[in-house]
Amino acid sequence: MAEQKFCYIKTFGCQMNEHDSEKMLEVLKSSDYYPTDNLLQADLILLNTCSIREKVEQKVYSTLGRLKGLKKKNPSLIIGVGGCMAQQEGEKLFQKVPFINIVFGTQSINKLSELVKTVEEKNNKVVDISFNGFHSLTLIPKLPQQVKAYVSIMQGCNNHCSYCVVPSVRGEERSRCKEEILQEITSLAERGVKEVTLLGQNVNSYGKDCNGRVDFPSLLSSINEIKGIERIRFITSHPKDLSPQLIYSFRELNKLCEHIHLPIQSGSSSVLKRMNRQYTREEYLDKIDKLREVSPEMSITSDIIVGFPGETEEEFLETLSVLEKVEFDDLFSFKYSDRPGVKATTLPDKVDERVKAERLWRLQNFQKKYTLMKNTKLEGKTVEILAEGLSEKDPQRLTGRTRNNKVVNFAGNIELRGCLVSVLIKRAFLHSLEGELISTLH
Ligand code: 5AD
Ligand code: SF4
Repeated sequence: MAEQKFCYIKTFGCQMNEHDSEKMLEVLKSSDYYPTDNLLQADLILLNTCSIREKVEQKVYSTLGRLKGLKKKNPSLIIGVGGCMAQQEGEKLFQKVPFINIVFGTQSINKLSELVKTVEEKNNKVVDISFNGFHSLTLIPKLPQQVKAYVSIMQGCNNHCSYCVVPSVRGEERSRCKEEILQEITSLAERGVKEVTLLGQNVNSYGKDCNGRVDFPSLLSSINEIKGIERIRFITSHPKDLSPQLIYSFRELNKLCEHIHLPIQSGSSSVLKRMNRQYTREEYLDKIDKLREVSPEMSITSDIIVGFPGETEEEFLETLSVLEKVEFDDLFSFKYSDRPGVKATTLPDKVDERVKAERLWRLQNFQKKYTLMKNTKLEGKTVEILAEGLSEKDPQRLTGRTRNNKVVNFAGNIELRGCLVSVLIKRAFLHSLEGELISTLH
């Protein structure tokens, strides 16, 4: 039997990257590398990187800095950098970080075993950032004992939001064939998975590259029929593509959970225009009204960028007023940062770093009361939770999510893992809720 070796993967960025890391581990099993959580045990360390914002990139470089010592102590340790940053930088990464061995792009995951083998045999450096159109979509990781799973339905993005590097590092939109998606989800259900999250940079345009044969609402409706699956979620949606059919799906499909992540980016139509988002503040608000008409309890989360080039105080105040109007359940907010090669980098009137930091602070502080208010509304209510396992923070208790995606911790037996249970919400905090188990549903 071949010698068993260990691989440690650190993931930066979004759920797409998390899922890609699961795929990397699957690929590496064929060359006898098995996952480890212990950095010191690793024979191979991979960083699956993200380049969406400058701050994430800085984190990658500082992690690499910490790995330098390990490599010095153990020169046979193989270090690889994959994902969006690798795609963007390519060979240049070897100049910046000379001790790494492999640079592999977002479409090279399937070649990982070969790349590692080359380094093992020849002890040299390898790079593969080809845009070969390969669908890492067809790689299906087999994780043990999952309650929830990610399923890729498409890759890439055809929008050109002026601040975003995604189209250049992930390529054009490619939808995965419907039958294959249904097959994957059916086999996940057979292995005990209860909840699937469909992944894509812009899931609403699923099928647009398939000659109109399929679209996202019809995909959702077929998934809703799969036995054993109890809950369906998806990320991410572009507001301009949020169709009436998709909105109705929230009423019609019993398994589709009442939560949508709908990034607005700015509450000012003039900023949205400069961002090339192709909707106005009013159009966004109108879609929110329609979602709430169909599903009044729907939770809505969003992304916001502050300090986009040229953003005035008045434009920023328009963003704050959207928070007041929509009452988002939660918000992910960022300071604008220039990204290589994107249009916004060339726009005039860059906002001062201190102003950006101050706006971010004001925005996040303003949002807190809405997040807490939404969570507090659940106090005293009995809700359905999918028990996911032990809480990381408090291993004495179980953790799970409501259908509208709020984390609930409660006392209960680990045997309930994978069950839908009924939980009475006792107390709300900013990031989670505390509950009491009432009964097991199934
Ligand atoms: N600067 C700041 N935030 C950005 N995002 C994307 N590009 C940038 C950038 N250049 C944010 C957007 C996006 C989220 C994933 O990251 O809000 O929705
Ligand atoms: Fe980037 Fe816009 Fe595509 Fe989202 S929709 S990945 S923000 S270009």
